[in-house]
Amino acid sequence: MPKILFTDSTGTTREVEAKKGMSIMEAAVQNMVPEIDADCGGACACATCHVYVAESWLGKLKPKDDMEDSMLDFAEDVQDNSRLSCQILVNDDLDGIEVSTPEAQ
Ligand code: FES
Repeated sequence: MPKILFTDSTGTTREVEAKKGMSIMEAAVQNMVPEIDADCGGACACATCHVYVAESWLGKLKPKDDMEDSMLDFAEDVQDNSRLSCQILVNDDLDGIEVSTPEAQ
């Protein structure tokens, strides 16, 4: 199963395994990764699953759609590498992807 590395705002990194087809948010919630609240359950309607994707992985992701882009306007401390983790589905190409969470979250 692909692995995801989550680094929280204190600098602690956790490695979790995710089934292909699940979202990075779902993998975080199932493994009780902190700082990813996912209040809307993945409906792209809350922005509490905001993560920063490590630059080296950005090129492997599908581009943001308009809905994700709009919802990121409600997130704190948005950067160029900001994504909503509920909108990123895990596949073999993302094995080892590194994401981190904003301090404000
Ligand atoms: Fe609500 Fe991702 S879980 S926008």
